[in-house]
Amino acid sequence: MNQSEAKEQIQALRKEIEVYNHEYYVLDSPSVPDAEYDKKLRQLIDLEEAFPDLVTADSPTQRVGGEPLDAFVKVQHDMPMLSLGNAFDEEELRDFDRRVREGTSEPVRYVCELKIDGLAVSLKYEDGVFVRGATRGDGQTGEDITTNLRTIRSIPLRLKNRETIEVRGEAFMPKRSFDHLNEQKKQNNEEPFANPRNAAAGSLRQLDPKIAARRHLDIFLYGVGVWEDEPTEAHSERLKHMDKLGLKTNPEWKLCNTIDDVIDYVKGWENERPDLDYEIDGIVIKVDNLAQQETLGFTAKSPRWATAYKFPAEEAVTKLTDIELSVGRTGTVTPTALLDPVKVAGTTVQRASLHNEDLIKEKDIRIGDTVIIKKAGDIIPEVVRVLEDQRDGSEQTFDMPERCPECDSELVRLDEEVALRCINPNCPAQLREGLIHFVSRNAMNIDGLGEKVIAQLFKENLVYTIADLYKLDRDELLKLDRMGAKSVDNLLSAIEASKENSLERLLFGLGIRFVGAKAANTLAQEFETMEHLMEADYDELIALYDMGEKIADSIARYFDEPKVIELIEELKQLGLNMAYKGRKKSEQPTDSLFADKTIVLTGTMEEYTRSEAKGIVEASGGKVTGSVSSNTDLLIAGADAGSKYDKAAELGVEIWDEQQFKQALNT
Ligand code: IVH
Repeated sequence: MNQSEAKEQIQALRKEIEVYNHEYYVLDSPSVPDAEYDKKLRQLIDLEEAFPDLVTADSPTQRVGGEPLDAFVKVQHDMPMLSLGNAFDEEELRDFDRRVREGTSEPVRYVCELKIDGLAVSLKYEDGVFVRGATRGDGQTGEDITTNLRTIRSIPLRLKNRETIEVRGEAFMPKRSFDHLNEQKKQNNEEPFANPRNAAAGSLRQLDPKIAARRHLDIFLYGVGVWEDEPTEAHSERLKHMDKLGLKTNPEWKLCNTIDDVIDYVKGWENERPDLDYEIDGIVIKVDNLAQQETLGFTAKSPRWATAYKFPAEEAVTKLTDIELSVGRTGTVTPTALLDPVKVAGTTVQRASLHNEDLIKEKDIRIGDTVIIKKAGDIIPEVVRVLEDQRDGSEQTFDMPERCPECDSELVRLDEEVALRCINPNCPAQLREGLIHFVSRNAMNIDGLGEKVIAQLFKENLVYTIADLYKLDRDELLKLDRMGAKSVDNLLSAIEASKENSLERLLFGLGIRFVGAKAANTLAQEFETMEHLMEADYDELIALYDMGEKIADSIARYFDEPKVIELIEELKQLGLNMAYKGRKKSEQPTDSLFADKTIVLTGTMEEYTRSEAKGIVEASGGKVTGSVSSNTDLLIAGADAGSKYDKAAELGVEIWDEQQFKQALNT
């Protein structure tokens, strides 16, 4: 056979195999027996081996190719991948509908879809060829996981026509594959995955594509990112168009003309959800018409034209076998219930948070009790209540210890706190947790330093303080379990790179009490260098407008500690950057955002107390009043806003949610 004959045959085989693939993995209705498919694939492999020049990336033989990667490359999304607002009950769905109808003049139709519980991904096709797949990441920047996504058989490597389009969807692990995988893990004495979502995410974040290839992942595409010359005018048309291109969409979507239809759909799936072969955690409701979507627009984080109805927390009954204590970064001693493993919302639960001693007393939780536990989404399971009539007298009451379970120092209750605390600054548990926080994503963001590695570093006495991290020795690290030369080198360069972080990351990482990422940012922006911040006294700190008394006091006290001063000096000597690298305060717009505006605040905000929000508005030139009238310029509504919201809507007063408020402050 000559080259051109081979080319022709190869193309014919690929086409045939693509059709079989689509029938099998997307439509779930194969037209040929497996043996026939295997035969064709074998023929193709043989031909490509004989004519290696003819191998192309979109060939069905190339799904699992290449060597493991060193690291994932970061990719900037062309259009941000936003998340969705939530509705937790019927009333909140009706609120959503009301807001949508207020924002559009024409009648609205909704598309309801299942909310697949997996990992959000973006797939980019150029001229019909799959060229890049990425994770959502923080919405702006994700990671290039193309090689892993190529192993998912339901992702076409080539579309049915030569479209250039970016589509979005959820990669997931079907329940059956998940059970099978965990079974295998157990047999190999490995830690099983907690739920299919973690298993899917874990598989797609493996650097070796061969692992993802073995994991039997699947995908449903639910949306479009960038699409030049888009021919469609409604979301439902987009779904149909994606089907035509050979992209796998979820077949259960439905067009609804009214919110009552939406509610019926939601209720129906609440009951039928256990019968699906994949996990869903809710229903997504989207305005169908794309022009209406555009009119409604977005808040900082999510579209106003869509919402996610979250299924209620699921409950289960199990036995509480023991109570374990752990010491956190700030010395708080937290009790955790150990449970007989039980399935809730598709995952096996073995532990539940008990928060503090008061809660144990209040709910009269005893070791040996039969309890109801509750789990919702990512939230740590909780003990709802004890089934007292199941007691047989053998249950034991639990008292918190008087001494720290890790370092044996006396525990104290500070001020009016409910939590018991170990105040020994050298308590090993606190130092360990402090380091875990220091390296975490929003702090110094040091990749490769997970909890297990830190626990080992501690055990081997290689680190004690934050500064020790910057003095780690390559040879010592090589002696640790599961640390090959490559991981050690990656880790050392991640640690080295972290020295260049802007000041706010270091400030947050230090773990100063009450200083979260937001306060750290404000401090870095205001004082610009560590030196200036360390010189600031309480009065200067409290003068910052989103700085509460508690935070200001805590910061002032922190930098009075000789040990802290020593630590900062040492970090400086080790080469850590101590300056703010972001946009300077002086370069930002002046505080006239709300100049001469009359503003009403209502509802509860996540990030600000009412008085903080008031302070911010006033500092930006606005006047805050208590009730909505025709003189009101703006209503800023947090969660659970009540009659003021309705009144403002009635009067046509502009209404912002917390996201919009935050966004306005940041621009
Ligand atoms: S639409 C602009 N539709 O749910 C937001 N999301 O917060 C577009 N998800 O992580 C999202 N199933 O990956 C949409 N049918 C569906 C979905 C869905 C699952 C995920 C999504 C994101 C989260 C939304």
